[in-house]
Amino acid sequence: MIKNETDIPVQELIEQALKARNFSYVPYSGYAVGAALMAQKGAIYSGCNIENAAYGPTNCAERTAFFKAVSEGERAFRAIAICGGKKGEKPETYAYPCGVCRQVMKEFCTDDFEIIVAKSVDEFEIFTLSQLLPHGFGGENLA
Ligand code: THU
Repeated sequence: MIKNETDIPVQELIEQALKARNFSYVPYSGYAVGAALMAQKGAIYSGCNIENAAYGPTNCAERTAFFKAVSEGERAFRAIAICGGKKGEKPETYAYPCGVCRQVMKEFCTDDFEIIVAKSVDEFEIFTLSQLLPHGFGGENLA
């Protein structure tokens, strides 16, 4: 953990991520992920992973949360909490966001966006987006 001081409601976000995790649809991997995304304006959007028999259409918990928020008009975000582990069990390890989800974060977030990976409300690590996606590719590259 590199960043330790934040005004983000870390425990609240972790609680919501843990709740969303219960809704994960994971008949193939059995790996349940929950996420809770906080917009700049304060609203929190939760998400879970949703798998598919054709595998490719599977959506990660983080992207579910982002797409819910963006589809409701949000464009600016402060933080996301992520919890993952075997379905029906407490998370045993930290679930870091996959590369595709980091790229989706890059689309809508600034470098200081905070990514909280958590096993429980009191076991977590916080990173900035620029720590998890250094030298990312973004819209500025196409300007
Ligand atoms: N998964 C997520 O929900 N978020 C990630 O960042 C990594 C992976 C999901 C996708 C799939 O349903 C399961 O975890 C196993 O890869």
